[in-house]
Formats: sequence, C-alpha cells, structure tokens
Amino acid sequence: MANPVSGFSKKSKTEKIEWLAANYLTDRPDAVALLKNYWNDDSAVQRLHDDFIENTLSNYYLPFGVAPNFLINNTLYALPMVIEESSVVAAASNAAKFWLSRGGFNAEVIATQKNGQVHINFFGKSDHISAFFSEIYPKLIATIESLQKNMKKRGGGLTHLELQDHTETLDGYYQLHATFETLDAMGANFINSCLEAIAHTFETEAKNYPSFQHTASYPEVVLSILSNYVPECLVRAQVSCAVDDLSDKHMEGHVFAKKFVRAIAIANAEKRRAVTHNKGIMNGVDALILATGNDFRAVEAGVHAYAARDGAYRSLTHAKVEDGIFTFWIELPLALGTVGGLTSLHPMVQLAFDILQKPNAQRLMEIVAVAGLAQNFAAIRSLVTTGIQKGHMKMHLMNILNQFQATDTEKQKAIAHFKEHTVSHSAVVAFIDTLRS
Ligand code: MEV
Repeated sequence: MANPVSGFSKKSKTEKIEWLAANYLTDRPDAVALLKNYWNDDSAVQRLHDDFIENTLSNYYLPFGVAPNFLINNTLYALPMVIEESSVVAAASNAAKFWLSRGGFNAEVIATQKNGQVHINFFGKSDHISAFFSEIYPKLIATIESLQKNMKKRGGGLTHLELQDHTETLDGYYQLHATFETLDAMGANFINSCLEAIAHTFETEAKNYPSFQHTASYPEVVLSILSNYVPECLVRAQVSCAVDDLSDKHMEGHVFAKKFVRAIAIANAEKRRAVTHNKGIMNGVDALILATGNDFRAVEAGVHAYAARDGAYRSLTHAKVEDGIFTFWIELPLALGTVGGLTSLHPMVQLAFDILQKPNAQRLMEIVAVAGLAQNFAAIRSLVTTGIQKGHMKMHLMNILNQFQATDTEKQKAIAHFKEHTVSHSAVVAFIDTLRS
C-alpha cells in the first residue's frame, strides 16, 4: 500500500511522476515514458497546460474534429467538436447536410439572465429579516459597486436582488437571490465575487441591527455561490419543412414524420428513454462546449435539471406535424462565455472561436443549441429507420481494427469488405483472423 504524501503539489512535475510510478504503477514499467510521451514538444504550450490545474503530469488527448455545412440563421458554419465517440461528428455532419437543403436551422436567444444565491440561516421572526433587508439594501448594492464597475460600463451587472423566504421547505432557511447580466462572460467569477461581498456586508450589518440584538437571533450566512441552474438564460433552435420533403430512400416523409414525432413523445413520457435521448443531445452540446473551452459540467447539470423542471425528467426536444409541416425544436438553458476563463488561454479554443467566426456569447448559445438539435435529429432518424448500429459500427470499425493493430493493407481490405457486410466486433475479429491465417 502507498504511503500518504505531504507537500505533493510543491514537487516538480518529474518528481510527481516518479512518486506516482513508485507508489501505484510498479507493474507498469512504461508509465513514466508514456506520461512524458504526451508532453507537448513546445515547452511554452506545455507550461500553459501545466498551469491550468494543480499537479499536471501530462496531457490527455481527445479528437478535435469539425462538422461542416451547418446553415444557422442563414449563415454557414463549420462546427468544431471535441469528442471521443466515433459516430458523433459524422451524425452531426449528416444532419447538417440534410437540413442544408431544407432551409437550415433557426435559433434565437430567449433570455440571458444568470443567477446566484447567498444561503442564510435565520430562526427569528421573518418580519425582522425582511425589514433588515429593506434597510440595508442600498448598502448591499454599494458594496459591489467597484466589483461591477467594468461590467456595468459594458451594459451588464447585477439586475435584481431579493430576499426569499424558504422556511416552508427548510426550517430557518432564507436566501438572497441575485440575478445578473454577464454579457459575453460565463460570469462565474464575477457572480461569486459579488455574492461573497454582499454576504459579508449582510452579516456585518446584521451584528448591529437592533431587532436582532433585542432577540439575540442573528442571520448567519451558510454559503454564497452562483447557481448552474439557468432557466432564465435560454436559447431555442428549430428546423422545419414540409412533411413530403422528409422522404428518403428508407421511408416516405409522412411515415418518417409520424414515427419521429412518436419517438419524441416517448422520450417525453418515459424517463429511461428520456435520459438516453437527452444523452444523445449532449453528444453535440458537450462537443461544442469542450471545443470552446466552456464548463461542460455546469452545462450538463443545468440542462438535466431543466429537463426535469416540472418534476418528471423529460425530452429536451419537441416535434410536431401541423398542416403538413414538420417542426422539430429544442430549448436549452446555457450559460456560456466567449471571453474569460479558458477561452482566452487555450490555443485550440481560440482556434475554435475563429472557426465559428468569433461569435459572442449569444451567438454561441444559438450554435450550441443547434448542435444538440442536429445530434438528436440524426439519432432519432437512424433509430426510426435503419437502427443506430449500422452507422455507429461503421464509424467504430477503425477503433476495432486499431485494437488489433491492423496494418494499412488490412484496414483497406476490412473497409472494402464491411461496405457490403454488417460491422460487429466478432465479425471484424473473424475477418482479421481469416486475413492473417
Ligand atoms: C449514443 O451516444 C446516443 C443515442 O443513444 C441517443 C439516442 O438513443 O437517442 C443514439
């Protein structure tokens, strides 16, 4: 068993690797070389990555791909996507091409408010805390004046601050609920700094407030933090066309539309299906979020909470046929940034923004929502026609071949063979065995 280590973060990168190898990787003589093999040759690039987190040892590659032909609000985009799942970029590209000849995607930002809370314990009379809040409100706003000076200059800042009584949900629980406009920044640091300043002033002022002193019952700040649930930071994306225009070699348009709408209804009605359905949406969303250096954990948490906003976990997409027109749309809560954080640091993120023609945060929200909608369209289209495995395994073929260290010639032969045959793990293994015997 390994011994506890102290002062680990102060060790050099090489010392950390050696410690890890000696304590946990004794049966992996290749470990040190492997970690070093993934270092970037350019020491400036490597240093940049080292500094993103504590205790960086090496880099972890994911493919950076691109899905072209996305017509969004009449502008043609190529979407940079960072993802490991073989079929995701291909599926996005297919959906983009399908809708390119049918008017493309429309997207619009519905709202851009973010929010955060100061969570408070108070077991005194609710009138006292309400009166106190009203009285010190100007001081709470004044306390963040310098913090929000620049944000305000650009048209953002705190937009609302109120005291909320949640004592029916939890004994003694109040909160200061704050809403913010953070423009092109995701805003986490700005919001958290404002909340902590507000919380500090709130608690300090409370110490001298007469009603609290009389009753010896003071409000106490438990914690202050932004919320990643952002239903007031919402974007909608949509496609629509005549049902007849949905026809392809697999199915007539009206049959396809009926099955498609039904598939969405099932995902809306049944949580086991809804989770997988929404996971497919997040294949597209996360790939864009990662490529653009945004916080995918925040987006994931907020999106899934939104999918369950009425108490049941439901589909994030919706579909209908009305008067012979098929419409398919998505609404997503997305708090994204195009400035600050990793966006200005990671060279590949900057490249992703250049590929997207330097969008602002609202444009990025629209593009990401489209990526989610397109991914869901591609998945449902496969599921209600050919089934998902045909396309998925075709894309996965190269992974299986690589698993067996197939040579270039073997790969070419396999690709030709599996154009005519169904790909499965065992079929590929059998094919390689035959080639090699
Ligand atoms: C796989 O990553 C995503 C799908 O399972 C999504 C879905 O079932 O809708 C294909």
